[in-house]
Amino acid sequence: MTTTLITGASSGIGAELARQLAARGHDLALCARRTERLEELRAEIVAAHPDRIVAVKALDVTDDDAVFRVFHEFDTELSGVDRVVVNAGLGKGAPIGVGGYAANKATAMTNFIGALAQCEAAMEIFRARKRGHLVVISSMSAMRGMPKTVTTYAATKAGIAHLAEGIRVEMRGKPDLDITVSTIYPGYIRSEMNEKVEQRTKFMVDTETGVRGIVEAIEKGVESARVPAWPWKPLGTAMRHLPLGIVRKLT
Ligand SMILES: NC(=O)c1ccc[n+]([C@@H]2O[C@H](COP(=O)([O-])OP(=O)(O)OC[C@H]3O[C@@H](n4cnc5c(N)ncnc54)[C@H](OP(=O)(O)O)[C@@H]3O)[C@@H](O)[C@H]2O)c1
Repeated sequence: MTTTLITGASSGIGAELARQLAARGHDLALCARRTERLEELRAEIVAAHPDRIVAVKALDVTDDDAVFRVFHEFDTELSGVDRVVVNAGLGKGAPIGVGGYAANKATAMTNFIGALAQCEAAMEIFRARKRGHLVVISSMSAMRGMPKTVTTYAATKAGIAHLAEGIRVEMRGKPDLDITVSTIYPGYIRSEMNEKVEQRTKFMVDTETGVRGIVEAIEKGVESARVPAWPWKPLGTAMRHLPLGIVRKLT
C-alpha cells in the first residue's frame, strides 16, 4: 500500500493520475488551488473505491510556506507519505522581449520555484524516514530551447529535470537512504493546459492513455521516461541531437 501526494490534482494529468493510482490501491493526498474540483474528485474516487483514503487540501505552490506546511500536514495526518508527484504546472508564456514578462514570470515561479519548494518539502520527509519516491513531471519541451510562447515554459521544465537529476545523483551516493527519483517527460497529453497554450496537436493522446504511460513508468520506479514511448522516445533522442532548424520542424 502506497500513499501518493499529487500537486495540481484538480485537472488534467494530476486528476487522472489520482484516478488510476486509486484503482491500483494507492491512498491519496491531493492538492491544488481549486478545492471544489478536488472535493468532486475525492467523491468520485471514493465512490468507485470505498476502501481508499483520499485527503484533499488547498495549495498554491507559489506560496513557499504553504508548500512545506501542507506536505508535512499530509505526512502526519496520513501516517506517512511514500511518494510525491511534483505535477502542478502553468503553461502561460510569451516570446522574450515583447512585453510578456508577467506571464513568463508566473510560469517560472510556478514551474521552477514552486517545484523547488515541493522537492525540498518532499525530500525533508523522505530523508527523515530514509525512504520515498520523488516524481517530477517535466516535459518533452525540456529536450531543447523552444521558441515563442514556449521559451520560458521549456526552460523551467529543463530546470526541474536537472533538479531531479541532481537529487538522484546525490541519493546514489547514500545507500542508507532508499529514495528513488523519477523524471517524467510527457509529450502532448490532452488537458486544460492544451486549451491555453499555443501548440500544434500532432501526436496528442487522450488523458487516460497518456496517464496510463506515466503510471506504468512511476510504478516501475524508472529514472526517467518519455511518455507515451511512441513517438517521444525516438523523437526525444532526435530533438537532443539534431540541428535546431530540424528540431523546430519536428515539434
Ligand atoms: N498536457 C501535456 O501535454 C503536458 C506535456 C508536458 C508536461 N505537462 C505537465 O504536466 C503537468 C500537469 O499539467 P496538465 O497538462 O494536466 O495541465 P492542467 O490540466 O492545466 O493542470 C495543471 C494543474 O496544475 C495546477 N496548478 C497550476 N498552478 C498552480 C499553483 N500556483 N499552485 C497549485 N497548483 C497549480 C492546477 O490546479 P489549480 O488551478 O486548481 O491550482 C491544475 O491542477 C504540468 O506540470 C505540465 O507542465 C503536460
